[in-house]
Amino acid sequence: MERRKFVAATTAALSASAATTTPVRATLLRPGYWGTQFYDEKERAELNDVLDAQSPFRWYGAKTPTKVLQFEKEFAARMQTKFALGVTSGTAALQVAMAALEIGPGDEVILPAWTWHSCFNAVLLAGALPVCVEIDTTFNIDPAAFERAITPQTKAVIAVHLQGNPCRLDQVLAIAKKHKLKVIEDCAQSVGASYNGRPVGSYGDISIYSLQLNKTITAGEGGAVVTNDPVLFERASRFHDLGGFRAPHQQQVGEPRVPWLFGANYRMSEFTGGVLLAQLRKLDKIVTAIRANSRQVYDGIRDLPGIQFRHLPDPAGELGAGVFFDLKTKDRADRFLTAMKAENITAAKPGGSVILPTLPHIIAKATPPGWPSYSTPRGKALQYGAQSCPQTIDILQRFAGVPLDPKYTRQDLTDIVAAIRKVYPA
Ligand SMILES: Cc1ncc(COP(=O)(O)O)c(C=O)c1O
Repeated sequence: MERRKFVAATTAALSASAATTTPVRATLLRPGYWGTQFYDEKERAELNDVLDAQSPFRWYGAKTPTKVLQFEKEFAARMQTKFALGVTSGTAALQVAMAALEIGPGDEVILPAWTWHSCFNAVLLAGALPVCVEIDTTFNIDPAAFERAITPQTKAVIAVHLQGNPCRLDQVLAIAKKHKLKVIEDCAQSVGASYNGRPVGSYGDISIYSLQLNKTITAGEGGAVVTNDPVLFERASRFHDLGGFRAPHQQQVGEPRVPWLFGANYRMSEFTGGVLLAQLRKLDKIVTAIRANSRQVYDGIRDLPGIQFRHLPDPAGELGAGVFFDLKTKDRADRFLTAMKAENITAAKPGGSVILPTLPHIIAKATPPGWPSYSTPRGKALQYGAQSCPQTIDILQRFAGVPLDPKYTRQDLTDIVAAIRKVYPA
């Protein structure tokens, strides 16, 4: 007890002294939106092309439109998959993936408890049952929890790669194979990351990306679906349209194999396609920059006594969106954030996602009346709530770190390292 009091008093004194010394920076350093910082005459030229051609619609117009098709071609090549489909958002891409895999009422889909609303909503919109499982210190799905949650109704898993960090894909793929489940890779937050030398998204049966403002490359909104399977591509193409299979896509697979399907119209416009084409051609530059920046931060602090970083299943392939470490308790993580703020450096708890099972509308299983998802015996029995994901809550409370930016300068990174080195020991 005496020792604990002493440690508490010393820590408080150190924190106070850290707060009263001159801050590392005079003004607040905070990350910007990555892709838009790289906008230049290339994006402008693509937009002008579409305006000059008077052809903003992807399938036809005053002149033959080219932008979305070209984006799809180059996106598939970059992600090392046979097919790519441009859509209006990552959320739409997830719904397209569900339709392509024929996921529907009676099916269960496993997803991590900590991810974005879209993953949960896409399963629900398909009429299937979303089953949330714990994350581990990768901040991604815990493979053991995934395997425990499998039932005879499980059809697929959404392997989400959050904040630039690939999940434990080897294990997830092996478990899925063993239980004959489909794998949807959600690379919304990891566009440009790789795993074992290949782009994330090239491993799953079907994979999705978001190209919204907060992502690696962006047109404000946008999304993409990739697959190597011609049948999945055909269903995806049909569903993202209004059920038909247009000639430019049909030519990619040869003869159609799928009957007319209903569709939701998630077609990408040529303006979006043009901007994304310009952005895609800068993806490697952005990835190289963000990785170099995160390496400088890792290297600057890895000798701090006892520091334990978020687990990176493939450190070389990780994007480096941020550097996060275990502060062991919520209280210490909170104090770290306050102290970093005093140094004028933006620090944060893991962000950009939500702990889905703790949201009131999810606990209440809110759906339109008669919706199939919760009307099965399993749907009725399944309980969400904080009690279903204590490990996830614990990890997210005790980790904190620094989100990064590809345009941070050497001085910015030196300041970040200096601030962490000043604050962390206290
Ligand atoms: C993990 C994840 N999946 C899907 C999405 C949906 O993407 P969009 O915002 O483009 O609909 C997001 C968006 O942030 C996301 O973070």
